[in-house]
Amino acid sequence: MKRRTLLSGAATLTASITGALATMRGAPATAQPLSPTPGGNTAPDSGARTMSVEGATVLVTGSNRGIGLGFVKVLLGRGAKRVYATARNPDNLPDVIALDPQRVVGLELDVNNEEQRLAAAEAATDVTWLINNAGTPGTFTAEDRRIASASTLDDAKFVMETNCWSPAELARLFIPIILANGGGAITNILSVGAWFCLPEYTSYSMSKSAAAIMTAGLRAELDREPVLVSGVFTGGVQTRLSPPGYTGGVSAVDHGLEVVEAVAQGVTDVFAGGGSEAMRAQILQDPQAFERGVI
Ligand SMILES: NC(=O)c1ccc[n+]([C@@H]2O[C@H](COP(=O)([O-])OP(=O)(O)OC[C@H]3O[C@@H](n4cnc5c(N)ncnc54)[C@H](OP(=O)(O)O)[C@@H]3O)[C@@H](O)[C@H]2O)c1
Repeated sequence: MKRRTLLSGAATLTASITGALATMRGAPATAQPLSPTPGGNTAPDSGARTMSVEGATVLVTGSNRGIGLGFVKVLLGRGAKRVYATARNPDNLPDVIALDPQRVVGLELDVNNEEQRLAAAEAATDVTWLINNAGTPGTFTAEDRRIASASTLDDAKFVMETNCWSPAELARLFIPIILANGGGAITNILSVGAWFCLPEYTSYSMSKSAAAIMTAGLRAELDREPVLVSGVFTGGVQTRLSPPGYTGGVSAVDHGLEVVEAVAQGVTDVFAGGGSEAMRAQILQDPQAFERGVI
């Protein structure tokens, strides 16, 4: 129970923020759409870059459960040619492969393991779409997810490695592969936690915020290439580690559907999952009031 309570990660964070916002005086009850494109903003030059699931070969990190498994199901349902379902513990893969043994290829991949990253890139040379989904909220000990009170910053650095540096390393490995296959997409699963910080999730928010800028940097660097780089500011999604009784999030499959539909339209900043778009609107409306509400 301690593990579930403390490690409920982004879902807890989203639930906490939603609760905090509900008590904020003057907070609007509903969000206004932020852009004409449903699900997020489209970069001005990205109209020509879209990514369809149909016929795509997709590698999903952390695909054995939660949001990653939701992606695998959606990709199979929408006609992906092949899905590389990766997990750090291969014992968790048979059930995922059994979804469609003809199209699902299981690969062992701890995203922080350089040897395994290289092996994945050597095995999956037909990839056209990388979905960097694997992520961690950090240690079970709330004090050590903070900066000021942590006994050391070791866990914060591990969270940064898992949620930002390792997705960046995977992007570096798969960009040449995607280009060699004629172009495609990189989709980084971020979090609404990239926009603000609950004090007991400082290291998580740091990592997701850094990953958001890393995503924007990749997009800028690949501006002349046929690769759609998107970041997903995921809100509440019901996953195994959602807090008991939390009902605010969408299912992992619905989150996956939101993301593939946005990417099919060339959306670069995707607001998917419970509360994401509403939260964004509230932050834009009054950033300081939002931060006070969070604290
Ligand atoms: N659920 C939400 O409300 C929510 C909200 C915002 C953002 N997100 C983001 O969505 C992504 C997926 O989260 P989730 O909700 O599906 O959580 P989850 O159920 O805890 O799943 C996390 C996945 O990441 C994998 N993983 C963790 N560290 C890894 C590593 N070093 N190498 C490979 N795989 C690793 C886990 O593998 P194991 O099974 O081996 O642990 C698991 O498959 C994360 O990036 C998270 O930050 C989730």
